[in-house]
Amino acid sequence: AAAEKGGYDTFMEKEIHEQPRAVADTLLGRTDADGDLVLDELHIPVEDLRAVTKIVIVACGTASYAGMVAKYAIERWTRIPVEVELAHEFRYRDPVVDERTLVVSISQSGETMDTLMAVRHAKELGARTVSICNTHGSTIPRESDAVLYTHAGPEIAVASTKAFLAQITASYILGLYLSALRGESYGRSAAEVMAELQGIPDHIEALLGTMDRVEEIAHFMADSRSVLFLGRHVGYPVAMEGALKLKELAYIHAEGFAAGELKHGPIALIEPGQPVFIVVPSPDSEHGLHGKVVSNIQEIRARGARTLVIAEEGDEDVVPFADEVIRVPRTSPLLAPLLTVVPLQVFALHLSTAKGLDVDQPRNLAKSVTVE
Ligand code: G6P
Repeated sequence: AAAEKGGYDTFMEKEIHEQPRAVADTLLGRTDADGDLVLDELHIPVEDLRAVTKIVIVACGTASYAGMVAKYAIERWTRIPVEVELAHEFRYRDPVVDERTLVVSISQSGETMDTLMAVRHAKELGARTVSICNTHGSTIPRESDAVLYTHAGPEIAVASTKAFLAQITASYILGLYLSALRGESYGRSAAEVMAELQGIPDHIEALLGTMDRVEEIAHFMADSRSVLFLGRHVGYPVAMEGALKLKELAYIHAEGFAAGELKHGPIALIEPGQPVFIVVPSPDSEHGLHGKVVSNIQEIRARGARTLVIAEEGDEDVVPFADEVIRVPRTSPLLAPLLTVVPLQVFALHLSTAKGLDVDQPRNLAKSVTVE
C-alpha cells in the first residue's frame, strides 16, 4: 500500500503533489504548433457552438466550485451568459434550457447520479451537452454529446484535489476555444492565456515546496471549532472549496463567504480568536477588488479575528492586518484559483492528520455517489 501511495502517507497527499502534472496533462495536446486551440474531441458542429446563447454548468460538490470559477472566465472570454447550478437543483426546477443552450457537466467520476440526471434532463430539453470528466468511458461522458477529458489520473482519496485543478483547467480550455470560435476579443488572445496556463504547473510545484508553515498552522489549530473562509471574484468559490475540504476531512464547522457579503451578515460571527482565511485577489485585479478585500481583513481584525491571509508574492498591503501570510506566486487574476486553493487543501489535510482522522476515507462520505 505504501508503494501505491508513492511514498506519501495518504492518497490525498500524493494527489495534492500530483497537481502540477494534472494541470500539465490536461493542457497537453490541445494546441497546435501556433499555440491555437484544437479540440477535435468536441463532437458538436461548429455552427451549433457559434449559436450558443447560454451555458449552464451542472455539477456537485467540489466540481460545482470548479464550475463557479469557470463562470468568471468563460463569461469574460466569450460574453456568453453562464449559469452554474448544483445538478440536483437544476434537474427538478423546470430549468429554462433549449437547443441553443450548452449544458456543461463537470464530474471527476462521471458516475454521480445527480449530475447524470441533470445531463439526461438537459438532453430531453434539446440542449447540447458537454462533459468535463476524469474517468474514461464512464456514464456521463457516454451519455453526453461530447467530452473534454481532464487528465488528472485516478483520484483515490474521497476528497477531491487534483481533479479540481484539472476541471478548472479544462473549463478554461473550453472557454478559450469558444471565445476563439466566436471571434470574441477581450484584450488577450487564447494563445496568450494558454501560454500562461502552461506555466502554472511550475508555480504549483514551487508553492508546494513552501507549505511547512501551513502544516504548522494546521497543527496549532487542531482544536478549532469553527473556521471561516472569505474570498471575492474567483476567490469566492476557492473560499467555498476551502470550507468544504475542512468539513469533509476534519469535521470542523466551516463556511465560505463572498467577502463583499461580510457586512450583510457574516461579520456578526466575528469574535476574538475566530480564525478566518482570506483569499486575497491579485493586486492586478480590476475595479479595486484587492483594496476592498484588504479593507475586509482590516475590519475583521479590528473585531479580534485571527486572520490567515493567502496573498500574492509582493503584496505588502495585507501585511499590517495579517496574523499569518501565506504566499502564492503571481498570476493574472483569473488563473489565481489554480494556486490559491492549494494551501487550503494542504491545511485541511494536516488538520485531519493532526486530529488522527482517516484522511482518505472521511466518515459518511463516498468517492462517487451513484444514488440520487
Ligand atoms: C462526492 C465526493 C466529492 C465530489 C462529489 C462530486 O460527494 O465526496 O468529493 O466532489 O461527489 O463527484 P464527481 O465525481 O461528480 O466529481
